Amino acid sequence: MGLAQPTRPTARDIQGIFDRIAPVYDQLNQRLSLGLHRVWKHMAVRWSGAAKGDTCLDVCCGSGDLAILLAHQVGSTGQVYGVDFSSEQLAVAERRVGRMVLPTSIHWVRGNALHLPFDDCSFDAVTMGYGLRNLSDLDQGLVELRRVLKPGATAAILDFHRPQNTWIEQFQRWYLEGVVVPAASELGLTEEYTYIAPSVDRFPTGPEQVALARAAGFAEAVHYPIAGGLMGVLVVSRGHELV
Ligand SMILES: C[S@@+](CC[C@H](N)C(=O)[O-])C[C@H]1O[C@@H](n2cnc3c(N)ncnc32)[C@H](O)[C@@H]1O
Repeated sequence: MGLAQPTRPTARDIQGIFDRIAPVYDQLNQRLSLGLHRVWKHMAVRWSGAAKGDTCLDVCCGSGDLAILLAHQVGSTGQVYGVDFSSEQLAVAERRVGRMVLPTSIHWVRGNALHLPFDDCSFDAVTMGYGLRNLSDLDQGLVELRRVLKPGATAAILDFHRPQNTWIEQFQRWYLEGVVVPAASELGLTEEYTYIAPSVDRFPTGPEQVALARAAGFAEAVHYPIAGGLMGVLVVSRGHELV
């Protein structure tokens, strides 16, 4: 499959990776982030502006962390949709919420972030966690996010980020290559996790993400580096115009 190559993997490669890692994805995430990914996901939900009674979408929902947080946020009068193209990740998400008591049910939808299966102006808030970096076409992904937001609504997009500080950048590189890949290798998933470091290299910096969001038509776009710049949240708002 050649995933360690500097070239961008295809959408089919990405879908295959996430189908294969679905059984261990949550466990590895929790271990490798020392549980901190939950804090960052709470921040993304807060910055999306999701509120009681809202209809919200989590794009690239994977095993459902952000959609579950959104369900708590919108309460019993709200609605939450989670969309992902990996049927294995969606199956894990469905099993997880089957064991939970949530204030509202979550609608799991198999679909492509580049052609979201929702009408224009459908959502009061949108989240995306570690999804944008994996899209085969970032520009189209942003255009689609904007299309499904209601006028004036906000999306919060959490992902890795290459830190500006050289020491932190070297730490991140060592961590991804020296800790994450060996931990995944123990589970027979070396190739699946080797692709992360080059994907972070390819991923636009915060200011570049802001420029892409502007080009996609967002009225407002701010990138917040978090965790010393190891991660970032791009917060984008649709203007009040309808097109
Ligand atoms: C790193 S996981 C993140 C999962 C979850 N959001 C989280 O933060 O734990 C990325 C997810 O994006 C999904 N994905 C990648 N490209 C996609 C696309 N074009 N359409 C739909 N889902 C996609 C993958 O299947 C995978 O579940």
